[in-house]
Amino acid sequence: MAKSPAKTSFSCSACGASYSKWSGRCEGCGDWNTISEDKGLTSAGPAKKSLGAMRGKRLPLTDLATQEAPPPRTLSGVGELDRVLGGGLVEASAILVGGDPGIGKSTLLLQAAAQFANAGLKTIYVSGEEASAQVRMRAQRLGLADAPVKLAAETNLRDILTTLEAEKPQLAIIDSIQTMWADNVDSAPGSVSQVRAAAHELTTFAKTNGVSIVMVGHVTKEGQIAGPRVVEHMVDTVLYFEGERGHQFRILRAVKNRFGPADEIGVFEMTGAGLAQVLNPSALFLSERGQPSPGSVVFAGIEGTRPVLVEMQALVAPSPHSQPRRAVVGWDSSRLAMILAVLEARCGIPFAGLDVYLNVAGGMKISEPAADLAVAAALLSAREDTALPADTVIFGEISLSSALRPAPQTENRLKEAQKLGFTAAIAPSGGKSVSVPGLTLRPASDLTGFVGEYFGAG
Ligand code: TYD
Ligand code: MG
Repeated sequence: MAKSPAKTSFSCSACGASYSKWSGRCEGCGDWNTISEDKGLTSAGPAKKSLGAMRGKRLPLTDLATQEAPPPRTLSGVGELDRVLGGGLVEASAILVGGDPGIGKSTLLLQAAAQFANAGLKTIYVSGEEASAQVRMRAQRLGLADAPVKLAAETNLRDILTTLEAEKPQLAIIDSIQTMWADNVDSAPGSVSQVRAAAHELTTFAKTNGVSIVMVGHVTKEGQIAGPRVVEHMVDTVLYFEGERGHQFRILRAVKNRFGPADEIGVFEMTGAGLAQVLNPSALFLSERGQPSPGSVVFAGIEGTRPVLVEMQALVAPSPHSQPRRAVVGWDSSRLAMILAVLEARCGIPFAGLDVYLNVAGGMKISEPAADLAVAAALLSAREDTALPADTVIFGEISLSSALRPAPQTENRLKEAQKLGFTAAIAPSGGKSVSVPGLTLRPASDLTGFVGEYFGAG
């Protein structure tokens, strides 16, 4: 019988979905022209014979009751960073730090490397993007030249692993995973197979050699770590470094952490001398928002798995047109129409003859129904020319009957609000009762009651 040719496989460079044949569009993420042939990492397919026939070695089994010492951790001394790591850097852990290009990942990790080196960890910083001289210059500018960090500029994974094996550091920083190149994989650096292979090698190395490895990963415009999501599954901790280029504040957020809570954030400020931790983030956040003003409301939202606080801005003005304008940026316009209808029909507040503008500040796009109550509050606040207290966040879904439904992940929203310095939250009553220290929960059962309580009408 003729032997069938080796199986080729294809995968999407944006989301990592794999296919048995090529197509123009990835069904996983919908992107065009992202599917390419996997080279060097082809699977052999399912084994023909049961593996049981070829005996493996028997695994030693343990029970759950065995007492285990907690993994050793090292504190960097930068509170915002240590908290996001779940209370310091865990020995032999693999960490992925994602973020937009130019957001400050290299700056953050160079500073972290210096902090950990000063705290006594033997630290190596490998840059695949910049020459050692460039990294050194940055370190000097940041005042870190005295820190005992060893530098290398290299992209060949085999050489890097050999070096790490010989040097036996306790912390290695790899900047970035997309520039790494494993010579046993036959495709270009940055491709799915290369990124996957490099991340796998590095993670395995971290576990077997007791080295903590931090990998930098670039993020695509859709906000995912470029290349496969599988990298996120491999590592112990995934951190995202976020912020807008035009603003000076940056948020380091744990989206996955096997050694601590996954919803912690650390807030930093990009200054001329590198990143400085922000000990009172609410001050920074509110300074951008300005004075409490009519039409402005802070919504405590969840984006994917991440809590995000955003400002909803509304403007309501008498319309010169026979058909008033309804303009929305960052939210669903049919959802706005629904809320206007509920306010009109159930609460007796007409918007006829009024132009309504709704804007989600900062270019954010919100798709959650939980933003309903924040939108209603912004509309009412603009219409009645009454500002809501600046220290209050709002969330909750509005049903057509004007009843309010509890939003999912209430606790995460409240924690985020509390973390960013808010002291009160207006949220639907009912659902699981949660309490977050330092935050007063003001329950509202329906929209009519909410209107009566905060706007004295309804
Ligand atoms: P960088 O860490 O190189 O970003 P990334 O590694 O995520 O691509 O940071 C780039 C930006 O940070 C750059 O545009 C300039 C700014 N920056 C400062 O504002 N202050 C500083 O002290 C440093 C080092 C960088
Ligand atoms: Mg960089």
